[in-house]
Amino acid sequence: MAALELDGISRHFGDTTAVSDISLSTEANEFLVLLGPSGCGKTTLLRMIAGLLEPSAGRILVDGDDVTTRPPRDRDLAMVFQNYALYPHLTVEKNLGFGLGVRHMPKKSIGRRVSEVADLLDLGPLLRRRPKELSGGQRQRVALGRAMVREPRAFLMDEPLSNLDAKLRASTRTELISLHRRLDTTFVYVTHDQIDAMTMATRVAVLNAGRVEQYGTPVEIYDEPATAFVAGFMGSPPMNLIPAELCSDDGQLAVRAPGVDLVLPMIGDESEKRAVLLGIRPEHLVPVSANHPGPTLRGRVDIVENLGSEEVADCLLGETRISVRGPRPIGLTSGQSTTLAVDPERIHLFSAQSGRRLTWQSESVPALAL
Ligand SMILES: Nc1ncnc2c1ncn2[C@@H]1O[C@H](COP(=O)(O)OP(=O)(O)O)[C@@H](O)[C@H]1O
Ligand SMILES: [Mg+2]
Repeated sequence: MAALELDGISRHFGDTTAVSDISLSTEANEFLVLLGPSGCGKTTLLRMIAGLLEPSAGRILVDGDDVTTRPPRDRDLAMVFQNYALYPHLTVEKNLGFGLGVRHMPKKSIGRRVSEVADLLDLGPLLRRRPKELSGGQRQRVALGRAMVREPRAFLMDEPLSNLDAKLRASTRTELISLHRRLDTTFVYVTHDQIDAMTMATRVAVLNAGRVEQYGTPVEIYDEPATAFVAGFMGSPPMNLIPAELCSDDGQLAVRAPGVDLVLPMIGDESEKRAVLLGIRPEHLVPVSANHPGPTLRGRVDIVENLGSEEVADCLLGETRISVRGPRPIGLTSGQSTTLAVDPERIHLFSAQSGRRLTWQSESVPALAL
């Protein structure tokens, strides 16, 4: 049974459409990440799932129950807020037990449940402290613990790591992954950070302007982005998108742009030239000598950035700026001309008009599906 099902969910605020006809469903106990840039409707969607905001249209089902019109307390979901929302005057222990006290659970049972959760989250040594005596990461864990004591059907989290520094973000991600494994509960996690999605999600919905651009596993979304928007959002640096022309010479398809003349591993009949975006991941471009025999791009190196184990070079192909990423030293110097090898099997093509991915099967199938 689908743990969470969104069926045609929309939400308008006056003339603004924050969420537009979103339908998707998850399997039981997934880690669903709602990913997209600021203002794309993530928080609005999460608030509707939580019951804090009514949809303008559509239905929300949890474990098969239609909860669309139910108040938040009857949905059995736990929302973990961005700003933690801890009670500043209460100790960690009291913060953890507060929700159960409000529900009139006997004191003894509260104590037992609080210590179980404190063990699970390593909060034991902090139980007597107040929120102001905790670090950001510790507060985050208390906020999570407060949601966990109720054993909800799903955890809903809105950018829970955004107040943490880079190192703490990384370790908290690891903790969340292991927590998700141990709890066997659905997580719905909102973020604008594609690394959060890549590392933690079992499934990702990439949102753009209130719509789902693509719904799939992190690997599907990284390896086969459905649109140029998704391609340009995932990866650091993201996929290079080079405005180009798709054409055919005697049935052999080729892509051309300044510095680009690639023959593709397929045949097709493009009697008219078609405007496309040529997508190549920065890690799939390899600096080679100028007389390299295979397919290459030609450009000029602008800036080389040292990331420690790797380097990222910014290059110009005509007017188009692209990134090349590889182990340090990448072998490129600012100002020099460069030749970059590319495997035509690893390129992506998107319609310049619609942004949608153009797909092909194999050389034996002379078709480019649009
Ligand atoms: N209460 C509201 N009133 C009017 N507009 C809103 C309200 N909440 C959100 N919006 C608008 O809806 C869109 C999506 O917002 P939001 O869901 O907060 O995006 P995200 O969380 O992805 O940054 C934005 O254009 C935002 O301005
Ligand atoms: Mg938001």
